[in-house]
Amino acid sequence: MATAKKRIAVMISGRGSNMKALHEAASAPDYPAKIMLAISNKPNAAGLAYAKSQNIPAIAIDGRDFANRTAHEQAIHKVLVEHNIELICLAGYMRILGEEFVGRWPGKILNIHPSLLPKYPGLNTHQRALDAGDKMHGCTVHIVTGELDAGPVVRQSEVPVLANDDVDTLTARVLEAEHKLYPEALALAARGD
Ligand code: GRF
Repeated sequence: MATAKKRIAVMISGRGSNMKALHEAASAPDYPAKIMLAISNKPNAAGLAYAKSQNIPAIAIDGRDFANRTAHEQAIHKVLVEHNIELICLAGYMRILGEEFVGRWPGKILNIHPSLLPKYPGLNTHQRALDAGDKMHGCTVHIVTGELDAGPVVRQSEVPVLANDDVDTLTARVLEAEHKLYPEALALAARGD
């Protein structure tokens, strides 16, 4: 008997190309997860329009409409529960989640980060890899904990840094790797491997 697909929410703030990669992978009949909800803290995020075009419920929950981060995240939590979400994928969600929210979803929030963690947590990862003269760079899918970009690694993908790379070329190469990595990592997490 086929086991039920895990119900996924993707949280975004912008373009949503990783969300698209997850959704496309999830269209395979044997993929163990299904994208059931997109949430953006930015009402005009391009990814929300994509989600709507795919008939994925797409909801903007704007942090500016709430008194503080806790209230904002309580509203997000409520929507996640209403949609019976089992796993959350952060995909370019540009707000740091608070301890209370993370504590309500222990081991259930994945994030994709554009570096080979523990190298370069935080922002400007591609520039930092170039500045350091790294020969290899890449991306990581990890479980979100209370500490920024520091939770257990689910899976990583390496890409080479080429001699004539600039931020744009390196960003594009890593992004291509992200689009392969995230669906693989989500499948692992959804199967509970
Ligand atoms: C990706 O590079 C991801 O690693 C980072 O934010 C970017 C989001 O891009 N966390 P997209 O919105 O998925 O296109």
